[in-house]
Amino acid sequence: MPPAMYDPIHCSNPKCGAILNPFCQVDFVQKAWVCPFCLVRNVFPQHYHGMSENNMPMELIPTFSTIEYTLPRAPPHPPVFIFVVDTCLEPEDMQSLKDSLIMSLDLMPRDALVGLISFGTNVQVHELAPQDGFTRAYVFRGSKDHETKEIETLLGLHNAPVQGNPQNPQQAQPATPKVGRFVQPLDSCDFVLTSIIEELQPDPWAVPQGHRPTRSTGAAMAVAVGILESMYPNMGAKVLSFIGGVCTEGPGQCAAPLLSETIRTHTDIEKDNLPFMRKAVKYYNSLAARTAKNGHAVDIYSCALDQTGLAEMKSLCNFTGGHLVLGDSFTSSLFKQTYAKVFQKNSKGEYEMAFNASMDVKCSPQMKICGVIGTCISNEQQGSSVSENEIGIGETSSWKICGLDPMTTMALFFEVSNPHTQPIQSQSGMVQIITSYQACNGTKRVRVTTTARTWIDVQQNPQYVASGFDQEATTALMARIAVFRAENDEGADILRWLDRMLIRLCQKFGEYNKDQPMSFRLSELFSLYPQFMFHLRRSQFLLVFNNSPDETTYYRNKLVKSDLMDSLVMIQPSLISYSFNAPPAPVMLDSSSIQKDRILLLDSFFHILIWHGQTIAEWRKAGYQEKPEYESFRLLLEEPVKDAKEIIGERFPVPRFIDTDEGGSQARFLLAKVNPSQTHNNAFAYGGDPSTAPVITDDVSLQVFMEHLKKLAVSTSS
Ligand SMILES: *[C@@H]1O[C@H](CO)[C@@H](O)[C@H](O)[C@H]1NC(C)=O
Ligand SMILES: *[C@@H]1O[C@H](CO)[C@@H](O)[C@H](O)[C@H]1NC(C)=O
Ligand SMILES: *[C@@H]1O[C@H](CO)[C@@H](O)[C@H](O)[C@H]1NC(C)=O
Ligand SMILES: [Zn+2]
Repeated sequence: MPPAMYDPIHCSNPKCGAILNPFCQVDFVQKAWVCPFCLVRNVFPQHYHGMSENNMPMELIPTFSTIEYTLPRAPPHPPVFIFVVDTCLEPEDMQSLKDSLIMSLDLMPRDALVGLISFGTNVQVHELAPQDGFTRAYVFRGSKDHETKEIETLLGLHNAPVQGNPQNPQQAQPATPKVGRFVQPLDSCDFVLTSIIEELQPDPWAVPQGHRPTRSTGAAMAVAVGILESMYPNMGAKVLSFIGGVCTEGPGQCAAPLLSETIRTHTDIEKDNLPFMRKAVKYYNSLAARTAKNGHAVDIYSCALDQTGLAEMKSLCNFTGGHLVLGDSFTSSLFKQTYAKVFQKNSKGEYEMAFNASMDVKCSPQMKICGVIGTCISNEQQGSSVSENEIGIGETSSWKICGLDPMTTMALFFEVSNPHTQPIQSQSGMVQIITSYQACNGTKRVRVTTTARTWIDVQQNPQYVASGFDQEATTALMARIAVFRAENDEGADILRWLDRMLIRLCQKFGEYNKDQPMSFRLSELFSLYPQFMFHLRRSQFLLVFNNSPDETTYYRNKLVKSDLMDSLVMIQPSLISYSFNAPPAPVMLDSSSIQKDRILLLDSFFHILIWHGQTIAEWRKAGYQEKPEYESFRLLLEEPVKDAKEIIGERFPVPRFIDTDEGGSQARFLLAKVNPSQTHNNAFAYGGDPSTAPVITDDVSLQVFMEHLKKLAVSTSS
């Protein structure tokens, strides 16, 4: 869409504030428009008076129901990045992290303001403007929390000068941000910052045998958040934190110093055996809430073999929209490639990140807003359009999203609040979403999407509702609600709730004779939905016990911000088969697809797995691919690798790549995802082919699930 380089026109009703859009009634003679949300009549400003039906401003043209304004008068602000770097790392990891950090300086916007904090036992804030040729670091104790006032005083932040040339007042705009000894524009401190990073040493404090390093992650985060809070409130800024282990010291401590005391598991959480977790969660939640209120985001790049406390720290990303990335080590290509992608530019040469966004939602008087599920916090904007039935983060019509990228997706929930007895007079229900944000190049943008849907009477015309059903979108939305509920302590009830919702849907939209399961049919528009729910129920988002709490946090964080296509792959992974018998093609995510003479490519979003059936694996082991007469075998082996590379190249974060054979230990990733249609228990009952591998599992197959569903849907007693 072409950008509109002017200010949007708002409805003059102070309680409304909706923006002019293609659904407004326009009186070209009187130069007036009627706001479709509050029905107030507005007069166009003078500079619109030249318009006519044949010469309309862009925002009235129906194809621009989404439009993006660049506000010409808002002073541009460069973004601010504060690095927070763990130094309790093995030398190899440390070197690799340093290389990535230095590489990223080359990729970042030159006018960005940057700062550097390193931490181990203590927290060091590094000076980036050398005085008399030396740079120093200011040390904060890692064992205590640090309030912004204290940080401000100790670092002398309040007398930080503003950037710009005082000799030339024309250039010194009011919005020019503060800089200081600790935060400098990248293009003036590049050299100093690079050499400080190069010289960063592993934490000097000795780690006694059998202990974890003393790591003060919580205090380091507080110092970073405090610096931003003091210097850049309400300006686009991000903390980039790199964490190689668990916090064992001071506020936000997640584990004991002794290695023999293991980090909490899901079982510990279930049994409430949590010496650190509650207090840590409380600490990070309040830090995250402050960060988000200030308009700032936090990225966490966690790279370690053991857990690092993401389950405690998650709100730092979840409230702010910052990236949460989980890897094994800073030497892995998963980390290196993922981090490099953060600063990638699109084909127009723009950075794909934005800051300090506010999303305001307007809707027709017959509807109310229940809430949002996504990486945001409430702006606490009450009003008549806000529902009492809260779904996700509700009780507001405005939300703050501090970090945005092109994939950031919010799920909005509405209800129709019009009573049934009172027919709706207007033709359509309307929603307007207004998102203001700071682009990476500093300009302020406002994106407006307005949409209208025809009202229908559900009682009289249920078929219209059915024809508007989008089973894929519904799957993604239901997954978000389920995850949101699971995060908020509803444990086992979620599965029952999902089942109840599915049964109700089938009762309402299925065709059947009462008490005759065999008669049950779902129309095309609904036919995939039960299967999506089947896979969601058994996904790692809801069945958590095969993962650590940190992994669960990572998966869930990604699901609640992903777009539709990514969400669907996470819920129901795609499976492609390669063989000599047929060209590569998608196959059912079912154990019957597992066959000896096939190669399978599984994409579950987080993992890309290439699996070789037994025959293929044997040929590969025997090295046939290297013999010229088996050229076609070499090509067959290469095909899924090529496809996997393509997926990996486009995905953020970079997925974990697994290459395995039938019977290999890593094959469990495939077995956990396929529908167990051919287990030992029911292979016979379903006429399974004995040549296909049985999956050893206790959970029911899709077929059994569907039988139950049909029975319950048609039952007169349920
Ligand atoms: C950041 O967001 C706040 C709240 O939406 C807004 O008042 C402020 O002007 C924004 N800052 C910038 C620099 O646009
Ligand atoms: C920011 O980016 C937009 C779109 O690419 C461009 O039109 C504008 O001139 C840029 N502004 C600044 C201050 O660089
Ligand atoms: C994200 O934060 C909200 C509160 O804003 C919380 O209720 C929700 O459970 C969190 N979700 C995830 C996936 O962490
Ligand atoms: Zn209005």
